[in-house]
Amino acid sequence: MRLQKYMALSGVASRRKSEEMIAEGRVKVNNKIITELGTVIDPKKDKVLVDGKKIKLESNKVYIMLNKPVGYVSTLKDEKGRKIVTDLIEGVRERIYPVGRLDADTTGLLLLTNDGDLANKLTHPSKKIQKRYIAIVEGVPNKIELDKMRKGVYIEGKKTAPAKVKIAKKYEDESILDIEIHEGRNRQVKKMCESINHPIKKLKRVSIGELELGGLLIGNWRFLNEEEMTYLKSL
Ligand code: URA
Repeated sequence: MRLQKYMALSGVASRRKSEEMIAEGRVKVNNKIITELGTVIDPKKDKVLVDGKKIKLESNKVYIMLNKPVGYVSTLKDEKGRKIVTDLIEGVRERIYPVGRLDADTTGLLLLTNDGDLANKLTHPSKKIQKRYIAIVEGVPNKIELDKMRKGVYIEGKKTAPAKVKIAKKYEDESILDIEIHEGRNRQVKKMCESINHPIKKLKRVSIGELELGGLLIGNWRFLNEEEMTYLKSL
């Protein structure tokens, strides 16, 4: 890639302005001042300094919220040939991937990004980011059962962290629970409900930290807005 193009794509200045900077002797490639305008560099190997500062290609970061439907897996490939969540995101050229996972039969809020740092932050256990779920479970849990879930239940020998659990609605033979947890163990919410003998029939994630699914329709996606981006940056 020509040096001035590389500088422009790195956000230093326009191509013309970059040419001027090269001619002024302000640009070094591998610690050697270059004033030759046609110079070609290898962005993967060569080190380019402008006014002594290293520059690198600006990659466009994308942040997407999806309302995941049933039947899609939150991985980039599936050995069983099931549909994958990125099949639903059309018109985005960046190589995005899901932040954490939802089970194939779970619906709701899934974030997708190409920002590895952010993905790590959001899923790192030390951040304790609250995730809220709405679950339809069999039967109506009583106070003792709800308290068990709130205090922590054992899953594969390890106790879950305290959770917030409320009954949002009761029916004769099922109920809707509003559950908040900050851990992200495999099939955690389902296992928590199973452990009190009220298995989940349907599960939907409605928020991750301050990010809320809101009225986003199932199968639809959108880019995060300014306010949501500010929140993510604050993490
Ligand atoms: N807990 C589950 O059991 N399943 C999910 O998809 C997410 C949380």
